[in-house]
Amino acid sequence: MPHLPVMYAQVMEGLRIRQDGTYLDGTFGRGGHARGVLGQLNAGGRLLLMDKDPEAIRVAEREFGADARVAIRRGSFADLGEWLGDEAVAGEGLDGVLFDLGVSSPQLDVAERGFSFAKDGPLDMRMDPESGESAAQWLARADEREIADVLWTYGEEKQSRRIARAIVARRVDAPFLRTAQLADAIASVVPRGKDKSHPATRSFQAIRIFVNRELDDLERGLDAAYAALKPGGRLVVISFHSLEDRIVKRFVAGRAKAPPANRRMPEIATFVPTLRAIGDARKADAAELAANPRARSAVLRVAEKLAEAA
Ligand SMILES: C[S@@+](CC[C@H](N)C(=O)[O-])C[C@H]1O[C@@H](n2cnc3c(N)ncnc32)[C@H](O)[C@@H]1O
Repeated sequence: MPHLPVMYAQVMEGLRIRQDGTYLDGTFGRGGHARGVLGQLNAGGRLLLMDKDPEAIRVAEREFGADARVAIRRGSFADLGEWLGDEAVAGEGLDGVLFDLGVSSPQLDVAERGFSFAKDGPLDMRMDPESGESAAQWLARADEREIADVLWTYGEEKQSRRIARAIVARRVDAPFLRTAQLADAIASVVPRGKDKSHPATRSFQAIRIFVNRELDDLERGLDAAYAALKPGGRLVVISFHSLEDRIVKRFVAGRAKAPPANRRMPEIATFVPTLRAIGDARKADAAELAANPRARSAVLRVAEKLAEAA
């Protein structure tokens, strides 16, 4: 399936693109949103592109490498500050940052990437296959308790303990090396849900989030993006599950309004908001949901750095 950019119109509106502005797309994917941003920039504008995935970066270089307005870097957006520390890259700061989180359709569709329980492939799940531990390596060494904790924390999987027990029992006979092997092991102890989803859906999500340190990266990435934005700059984030959205929501709220008054916290009296939420969380509209099932769980939030925050 081609990668359709999620909530495209809302992203463009949220970024409020200035023709000569500098924008960062921290999750290039296949460039659906990036192409839209670039199309609105004039010769003075700049677009900075990042992705952890070497395949995504190859596409970015092939398509945009020759455009003098574009700079490309392979790596996590959590480390965007290191890149932007070089003044030639970001100049006076960013007018907008986009994070469209999670995995891209090509990552899910190519069995060899090992993300999918529906397509048998090597059990990998790394967005950057050259860094960190694969799902197979982790499942070979983690103890039962750690596996159960990951499934519970990142997948909200109620059967986390049963699944962890089954994994540890089965790996004695043969290590988990293929996605189908893991999906079968999970299906053998967890019945199909009422919504007919595959019983391995939540476990695969959990292991993917863990292996890629997605929530840590998001927290660091939000801080780094905030630091790099100019006053008036916009932050646009699309989340695909509640754990991510909770982090984004708290991040914005923590800078947008003071916590309830508390006599033991006199510093609250001097609280100055440095970020403003632009509207509420948004969801994809019915037409998009009909055309793109990936949009079903998407939640988009927009925030603006305030002038006083400089
Ligand atoms: C949902 S896709 C983005 C799709 C893109 N907006 C488009 O329209 O084609 C998410 C992409 O973000 C990348 N990604 C996820 N977490 C990342 C991180 N912490 N740093 C950099 N890239 C990341 C993934 O490798 C994937 O290519």
